[in-house]
Amino acid sequence: MAYQVKAADREWADGIYKKLNSKLKAECARMGDWIPYIPKDGRYHDLETPEKIFWWTNGFWPGMLWQMYNASKDEVFRGTAEAVIKRFDRALEMYEGLHHDLGFMWLHTAVADYRLTGNKDSRRRGLHAANLLAGRYNPAGRFIRAWNGDRTGWIIIDCMMNIPLLYWASRETDDPRFKMIAQNHAHTTNDILVRADGSCNHIAILSPETGECLELPGGQGYASGSSWTRGQAWGLYGFVLSYLHTLDKKYLDTSKKIAHYFIANSAKNEWLPLVDFRAPAEPVKYDSTSAMIGACGLLELADQTGEFEAPLYYDAAIKLLRTCEKNFADWNTETDGIMGKGTGSYHGGPADTEVPIIYGDYFFTEAILRILGKNFLIW
Ligand code: GLY
Repeated sequence: MAYQVKAADREWADGIYKKLNSKLKAECARMGDWIPYIPKDGRYHDLETPEKIFWWTNGFWPGMLWQMYNASKDEVFRGTAEAVIKRFDRALEMYEGLHHDLGFMWLHTAVADYRLTGNKDSRRRGLHAANLLAGRYNPAGRFIRAWNGDRTGWIIIDCMMNIPLLYWASRETDDPRFKMIAQNHAHTTNDILVRADGSCNHIAILSPETGECLELPGGQGYASGSSWTRGQAWGLYGFVLSYLHTLDKKYLDTSKKIAHYFIANSAKNEWLPLVDFRAPAEPVKYDSTSAMIGACGLLELADQTGEFEAPLYYDAAIKLLRTCEKNFADWNTETDGIMGKGTGSYHGGPADTEVPIIYGDYFFTEAILRILGKNFLIW
C-alpha cells in the first residue's frame, strides 16, 4: 500500500464498522435467506417473483455478508450468506434468463465462499458461471455481449466489473482462455466506451458480425453523450481491477484517466454525487451508489500507484465516503438499508430514485473495510 490511512479517518471508519456490525446483524435476523434489493416502507422483502433470481444485484447482500464474516469471523454473517447462496443454483440451472452479470452474481456468492472456506461445491458453481460468461464472447468483435434477445451486439461499461470472474477462472483452472476473453473485452471497451476526456459512454451497439460501432445510446444516464455517474465509477474501478489481474499498464492509465474526470466533477458538486455529471442543473438528482463504487475504485488506485499519486485518490475516496455518510446514511437498526439517495437510472420512476439500494451498501461496506485493512478482494 503506497498510502498511509490518516488516524482521523481510521477512527471514523472504526466507528462506522461498529455501526455496520449492529445494523447488518439486525437485517440478518429479519431476513433469513431472503435476497434483498430496495427496502419498501423501511423494510426489505424477498424476490417478488421466481424470475427475479436472475436479477443482477442479487449477489451484493451475500457479498456484504462474506466481507463482514472475513472481517469479524462472526458466524451469523457466514450462516446467512450460506443460506442465501444455495438459492442461486436455480439461476445456473435455468441459465437462459442470465445476462452478462454473472460476475456480479457469482463472485460475491460462490467464489467468495470458496475463497474464504474452500467449499468445493462453490468452486464448481463459480467455474460454471465463468463458462457461461465466456460463452457470451463474440470473437469477431472481441466483446462479451451484455444482454439477451435481439441485442446481440450490445456492450456496456458495467461489464468491466464482471470480467474479474474470468480472471479468477483462468487462475483456478490454469487455462489462459478465460483471461484472453476478459482482456479482449477490456480492450474493446477501452477503445469504444471510454472517451478521450476520461468520461464514458454507458452502451455501445456493435455489429455482431464485424464489431463495427453502430450507435452510442444514452443508457441509464441523462442522454446520449452525457456522463452517467455510476457508469464512470464502473469504468474507474473495472479498469484498475483489470490492471491488478493482468499488470497491463494500459488499463491502469485508463482507470486513472477516468478517475481524474470523476474527481474533478465530484469536487465541483462538493462531493455530493449526481446521477449524471452532464445533466441539466435542475432537477438535482443524487446517486450515492456511484460515489460508493467510485470510492472503492479510488482506494484500489491508491493501492496500485506510488507515493506521489496515491494521496490524490485516497483523499477523494475519503471525501466521497464521509460526505455521503454524513448526508445520506441511516443507522436506525429498525429500518433496512444504510446508504440513502441511490438512483437506478436518470429517467427511472420513484421506486428506484433516491432510495437505499443494496449495491450502495455493499460498496460502502467494502470501502470501510478497505480503510481498516479488513477487506478481502472479492473481484
Ligand atoms: N446496469 C447496472 C447498473 O445499474 O449499474
